[in-house]
Amino acid sequence: MKVIKKTHQMQIISDKLRMQGKTIGFVPTMGALHQAHIELIKRARKQNDIVIVSIFVNPLQFGPKEDYNKYPRPIKQDLKICRNEKVDYVFYPPVDEMYPKDGNLTFVEVTKLEDILCGKYRSGHFRGVATVVSKLFNIVKPHNAYFGEKDYQQLKIIERMVNDLNFDVKIIPVPTVRDIDGLAYSSRNLYLSDKERSVASSLYKSLVFCKELIQQKKYTLKQCIQKSKKYLDTLLSSVEHKIQYFEIYDNDLNPVPQNLKEIPSGKRIRIFVAVFIGNTRLIDNIEVTV
Ligand code: PAF
Repeated sequence: MKVIKKTHQMQIISDKLRMQGKTIGFVPTMGALHQAHIELIKRARKQNDIVIVSIFVNPLQFGPKEDYNKYPRPIKQDLKICRNEKVDYVFYPPVDEMYPKDGNLTFVEVTKLEDILCGKYRSGHFRGVATVVSKLFNIVKPHNAYFGEKDYQQLKIIERMVNDLNFDVKIIPVPTVRDIDGLAYSSRNLYLSDKERSVASSLYKSLVFCKELIQQKKYTLKQCIQKSKKYLDTLLSSVEHKIQYFEIYDNDLNPVPQNLKEIPSGKRIRIFVAVFIGNTRLIDNIEVTV
């Protein structure tokens, strides 16, 4: 496994691999790798000749009051995981290799899709994500790129960006990977105290609760959401917490009718939740077939 720190060197390597007819699978990450990243890497390993993982904590996607400086950076452990998973190249650039010293002047914005859910509360976040992912695609030149469904809005934004800007990359969604109690794996789980961690699976439990209410078809979506938020508040009552949003969209992130009878049977919709547990912001989502 080779660790590449220079963008130009990565581009030359990818060009050569493409000329040799090799397929490149790419897993973009911010490091602090966990089981969900490993799942992305395994999928990439199965479907491509060459696997490239990037590790880059992207300053552009953090707000001024967010956790850029304290974001975990266990690089030795990350490289060990990549080696175990038979990754071929880790692209690990320093910030000044990715962004000019006088700041970035060019940005990628996927309008509309970034105005809802997390985008509403994390101004500029998805602009930072779309910008860095398009840069990474130009540097790594992958055939296939792997994104987890836990960050479903991110996945949809990247799919739309690839479509709108004609990137020659196939985006492969990978289902959310959960710990034994249902908590979705996230690098931010590391911030939770033992007490907070012991109730963190409440997000998933409240999503499943809401899914069951929807499938009973007895309530409007608004009522399902109200009941699920109340349930979540109760589950989290032993820790400081704040529900940021609990919302429902269809799988393309379009709004869905309040009256469940107006949704065609068999349509797949998604429930999304974001919660602060202490200072840690966690998100999750699940699909429901109506
Ligand atoms: O999901 C992430 O870890 C990041 O948002 C990504 C896609 C690597 C871009 O920095």
